[in-house]
Amino acid sequence: MSDNPEDTLYPVPARLLDAKQCPEPYISSIEQYQKMHRQSIEHPEEFFGKVFCLDHGDIAWFLEGQLNASYNCVDRHAIATPDKVAMIYEADEPNQSEHITYGDLLRKVCQLAGALRARGIRKGDTVAIYMPMIPEAVVALLACARIGALHSVIFAGFSAEALRDRIKDANSRIVLTSDQGKRGGKTIETKKIVDEALKSCPSVETVVVCQRTGASEVPMTPGRDVWWGEEVSRQPTYSAPEVMYSEDPLFLLYTSGSTGQPKGVMHTTAGYLLGAAATVKYVFDYHPGDIFACMADVGWITGHTYIVYGPLALGATTVLFESIPTYPTPSRYWELIAKHKVTQFYTAPTAIRALRRLGDSWLEGHDLSSLRVLGTVGEPINPEAWHWYNDKVGKGRCAIVDTYWQTETGCHIVTPLPGAIATKPGSATFPFFGIDLAILDPVTGKELVGNDVTGVLAVKRAWPSIARTIYGDHKRFMETYLRPYPGYYFTGDGATRDKDGYIWIRGRVDDVINVSGHRLSTAEIESALIMHPTVAEAAVIGANDDVTGQCIHAFVCLKPGISSHSNDLTKELVVQVRKVIGPFAAPKKIYLVEDLPKTRSGKLMRRILRKIVAGEKDSLGDISTLADPGVVAALIVKVESS
Ligand code: WTA
Repeated sequence: MSDNPEDTLYPVPARLLDAKQCPEPYISSIEQYQKMHRQSIEHPEEFFGKVFCLDHGDIAWFLEGQLNASYNCVDRHAIATPDKVAMIYEADEPNQSEHITYGDLLRKVCQLAGALRARGIRKGDTVAIYMPMIPEAVVALLACARIGALHSVIFAGFSAEALRDRIKDANSRIVLTSDQGKRGGKTIETKKIVDEALKSCPSVETVVVCQRTGASEVPMTPGRDVWWGEEVSRQPTYSAPEVMYSEDPLFLLYTSGSTGQPKGVMHTTAGYLLGAAATVKYVFDYHPGDIFACMADVGWITGHTYIVYGPLALGATTVLFESIPTYPTPSRYWELIAKHKVTQFYTAPTAIRALRRLGDSWLEGHDLSSLRVLGTVGEPINPEAWHWYNDKVGKGRCAIVDTYWQTETGCHIVTPLPGAIATKPGSATFPFFGIDLAILDPVTGKELVGNDVTGVLAVKRAWPSIARTIYGDHKRFMETYLRPYPGYYFTGDGATRDKDGYIWIRGRVDDVINVSGHRLSTAEIESALIMHPTVAEAAVIGANDDVTGQCIHAFVCLKPGISSHSNDLTKELVVQVRKVIGPFAAPKKIYLVEDLPKTRSGKLMRRILRKIVAGEKDSLGDISTLADPGVVAALIVKVESS
């Protein structure tokens, strides 16, 4: 076997194609995939339904359609199979799991929908959700969808300041939250963070507080804060869904771009729901009776699409995991799979790398035979991690699907299909249905046709689940995604199409970094640092990290007269970033430096910092354009000595 990962091809595991062992995959050959993919591109109106789509960002699908996402995800199944388990809540403590049927879910969703309506929330309003991974979080999304309000979930790892900015940007009048959160045995003071955020959010009139722990006194602001339990208990167990048009907005989800300001990516109802359902069906080869377990947080797009909307649209049983892979021991994932007989398991390469490091013994004694499809998402998976996942977790009997997508794409856009596509470790393989993929020359924007090409990844035309706009800033939507390469949606990632046509994602080509699958912008972290009174300037880069994929290194210039010899100062700067963004954005290293590499026009050359940190000081490229090429030597000394 060659060492080149492009040369190793892993066929579809025979077990998946054996009718005695597994349900027949929907797509069971590469030819069938190719035929359907071609049809989805050439005749989208036949493949998906009525389309209206121009190059100006006027994207619309199923124009005459009316539907309601909560009806599709809940009522349909509650009517047909009320006792079927919709959600398995695997609580932080392993002995506290709970099963919620479709019938239960419908009642909970309706009661919260009624409570929101009673509080004056109407179609088109935005609802901020800042909650731990408890069933009420899923209920919250669906209740918003039911009344036509746009949910705006803010990941519970964000700080009070980050939460405040997102509530303000969306102009939310209501926040749904909990008293506390539980994660890995630790308690998180969720409500206190909300209180802090709301000190400067005049738009918020109501805070609905769910009891997760009930363990301590939670200060309630009279006239603003109300208990979830009391609110919903006043409501009847049925509340009719709002009739929504296909293109009515379903939700906002804030994500990081190349500037400091987070953007509220907006998805609409029909196209998004179709993408979510279609990928659960085809990419995870979901069959009735399967138990679907996505380990993401509901605060990110992966949780939206693959914990909530995709599985529930298909009437599946979805797992909601509140804990972390190492609590109480590093066997937690494997216990969860064995206990609930999980058939599809979906996690991030970071988690796989971390568990692999802890050794194989944690896998022993857990029956993983129910598994058929193992997915990864969020960052490129290195071949070592891929093999461990395939061999130790999947025992060579499961399909591995390395799914590439983004908040903006709504669902997977490049991915293997379990029964049809032979995989290569580290390659996301081929475009999903409806995705007319292109690799462009980054400079000329010309499409690089044929195989064996590397450039930036783009999509040639709209597909149903593509985001429609950035909330309140359509100009920015156009400038970020549709204008850089006219005629294409620009992903921001680099990619290679190898000699066999397989796609390899090479990582971001903009100033976005990816730490443990969390997407962050360098500008966002830099502006957090600059808010500290001692900091004059900051430059942030992503460096390679064995476990988290990338980690954050920050170069900081202090204001004149401030001593750089204090150890406490770097600690304080880390705290600063945690406070402004959240703990997951904390820099791993901070270098206090005299100067940063800039061009004569003042543009920061992060590329040079990346090279220095990577130890590639002999390939810094042309540094003669720097205003002061002398800074480079000082930076090298600094990095090498720390
Ligand atoms: C990266 C997460 C390589 C990529 C669903 C993308 C990946 C960004 C993969 C989106 C993958 C996601 N292989 N890179 N399979 N999946 N990415 O919006 O850089 O949080 O642009 O959505 O994650 O991150 P986001």
